[in-house]
Amino acid sequence: MKGVILAGGLGTRLRPLTLVTNKHLLPVYDRPMIHYPIECLMQAGIRDVLVVTGGDHAGDFLKLLRNGKHLGLRHLEFAYQEGEGGIADALKLAEDFADGAKICVVLGDNILEKNIRHAAGEFFTQPTGAKILLKQVPDPQRFGVVRFEGEGEKRKIAEIIEKPKDPPSNFAVTGIYFYDARVFEVCAGLKPSGRGELEITDVNNWYLQQGALTHSFIDGWWTDAGTFESLHRASCLVAEGGANLA
Ligand code: G1P
Repeated sequence: MKGVILAGGLGTRLRPLTLVTNKHLLPVYDRPMIHYPIECLMQAGIRDVLVVTGGDHAGDFLKLLRNGKHLGLRHLEFAYQEGEGGIADALKLAEDFADGAKICVVLGDNILEKNIRHAAGEFFTQPTGAKILLKQVPDPQRFGVVRFEGEGEKRKIAEIIEKPKDPPSNFAVTGIYFYDARVFEVCAGLKPSGRGELEITDVNNWYLQQGALTHSFIDGWWTDAGTFESLHRASCLVAEGGANLA
């Protein structure tokens, strides 16, 4: 399995910091943010990684990450996203890199306490389809959120809703996704959402409709770091308890 880190976007919620650098190069406690998704992939045994970025500061990723060998990567590639077409638009740039293999996609501002080795192993044995990782959060309206149907053993995901005003659960879809090679056809067929972006939630709902979406729950803490509040929280969590180390 190969890894794709999506590290583009303008980071508008972190202005003025992001006027002079890319969001994913900002510090989270003692390391640049992008180090955490790299470590997350490596802990899952994935050492072939593509970083998709964009904007004015894309060159700084090369200065920091170089060829990735010093971080333990076997192969590191970069792709440049023109414009701000959303997460699923950025993912399109990974098609040649993936070259038919399954991929694990990590949003560059997602940070986890524990490793995702178990979920990666499950997806490895899942013949086709996609897998998402869920986490209960106090503020689900900030995320993609699942609506469940049924109870207990029979509980199934019925729908994923992007940033619902009235969330049907407090289970957020985290920014760690596993996909088979069909994901690129799915991305190519998407229409922009109300906010003018190709949404990863639409990709996940496509797999759901095919009956090809599995999910697991994240152990330990998980946070994004795309707002001042969550960036601060991420730094505190890392300082207190480490990240991706278990
Ligand atoms: C994105 C996704 C959302 C997901 C979140 C996880 O939101 O659109 O579904 O829950 O990442 O971090 P964004 O950070 O772009 O607002």
